[in-house]
Amino acid sequence: MTQFISNSSATGTGLFIRTFGCQMNEYDSERMEGLLSRDGYVSVESAEDAGIVILNTCSIREKPEEKTYSELGRYRDLKKERPDLIIVVSGCVAQQKAADIIKRFPSVDAVIGTHQVGEISDIVTKIREGSGPIVAVDYLDECRIDSYPRLHRSVSSFVTITQGCDNFCSYCIVPFVRGRESSRTSSEIIRDIKELVAGGTVEITLLGQNVNSYRDPEMGLDFPELLECVSDIPGVRRLRFVTSHPKDLSDQLVSAFRRIHSLCSHIHLPLQTGSSRLLAAMNRKYTKDEYLKKIDALRSARNDLAVTTDIIVGFPGETIDDFKETLAVMERVRFDGAYSFKFSSRPQTKAASMKNTVDEEEKSRRLTILQELQKEHTLLTNRLHVDTIKEVLATGKSLRNPDVITGRSVHNKVVNFTGRNEDIGTLIPVKIIEARNNSLLGEAINNHSIRSM
Ligand code: SAH
Ligand code: SF4
Ligand code: F3S
Repeated sequence: MTQFISNSSATGTGLFIRTFGCQMNEYDSERMEGLLSRDGYVSVESAEDAGIVILNTCSIREKPEEKTYSELGRYRDLKKERPDLIIVVSGCVAQQKAADIIKRFPSVDAVIGTHQVGEISDIVTKIREGSGPIVAVDYLDECRIDSYPRLHRSVSSFVTITQGCDNFCSYCIVPFVRGRESSRTSSEIIRDIKELVAGGTVEITLLGQNVNSYRDPEMGLDFPELLECVSDIPGVRRLRFVTSHPKDLSDQLVSAFRRIHSLCSHIHLPLQTGSSRLLAAMNRKYTKDEYLKKIDALRSARNDLAVTTDIIVGFPGETIDDFKETLAVMERVRFDGAYSFKFSSRPQTKAASMKNTVDEEEKSRRLTILQELQKEHTLLTNRLHVDTIKEVLATGKSLRNPDVITGRSVHNKVVNFTGRNEDIGTLIPVKIIEARNNSLLGEAINNHSIRSM
């Protein structure tokens, strides 16, 4: 711990974290940055300026996994010029491919799994003291996230409530790289949120692979009960959650949309496919009709609810008729947005050994058709907001035009609007004047003479 150089930008204490993947990984990166800041590390803009680089990896599909290896090649070259550079690989590829990584990249100093994020300080200290390469990829039984310095105070913050996943959808690698599902205690979650609110956060997003199966290990609270507790915390003006598994979406959660006003009018509810036959092969444990029933129930609880989804095309055995069923569900639901992916075969998963694979060209063809349809639907749903006044949480200036302020509506739509710099960080009424493909345009109503949002 003594060989740090005080000038962080010239190696030594400069820290560069590159993050691939989902919000879980974003959250873990933020934790590592916070924990290392206690030891004097300061974030820098590029790997070239850093003394430590951490590559936080994702293996959900083949493509992000490949990016791990190309990025590691780049860091290996940097280390040739600067042998004191420390390289750490973390996240989901690290969890699954630790041995491979060390073998292919002897320049890597440590490979740490998804349950070792909290130990990053000790691991870096050990490397500094000359141990290495370190491989630490064991799973822990309980979900413990000790408090850490939150360096990036924000009006909108994520709070993890569960780790891991027990669902084993047949295409998905997450249960193999994040381990068994475990929930944090509600007391820990509430303490975290109170701290965030004291620091200026007004919007909380509860995070987990399947938040609906949350179960407080101390008090036994379920997810709707947790929502109720969080919504009671003074200062939580907006509440969101991701992700919900349709099979565990309970009547109580539906009625939470009736009762809890701070719960935003948006749900992300992954469909995956509209074919009940394929849903069974995917081990999703719901049928197309059950999915649609849940959507209807949610919409009757909150009639303006925005719904987004995830869809996979080209799952093994997907016929044109199966694909058409997916399009039909899209027509029926009119999703506000959809993340859509070509099926990618992942090691250890059940689907990896399934027959009747769909060829790449056909997958691409189906994906294009689906994305075209979704584009139409996104625009149609965006148009519903024109000429209304929406409450927007202003988060910053637009990247494209610094005279424009950007934020999100309760429906999770991006709203770009003419407003004042002082609006940033506040909830502000905005008159929506135009719908674009991926955003809404509006004007701030600065006299706040708002009656209905
Ligand atoms: N826990 C979340 C999603 C995690 S992964 C949930 O259950 O909804 C995010 C999305 O990636 C999934 O919803 C799925 O649509 C997609 N995905 C996961 N594995 C995939 C694979 N092998 N090929 C293509 N897409 C995949
Ligand atoms: Fe993967 Fe299914 Fe778990 Fe989501 S619920 S993380 S898709 S196994
Ligand atoms: Fe990727 Fe791991 Fe998230 S595989 S999507 S970073 S849980």
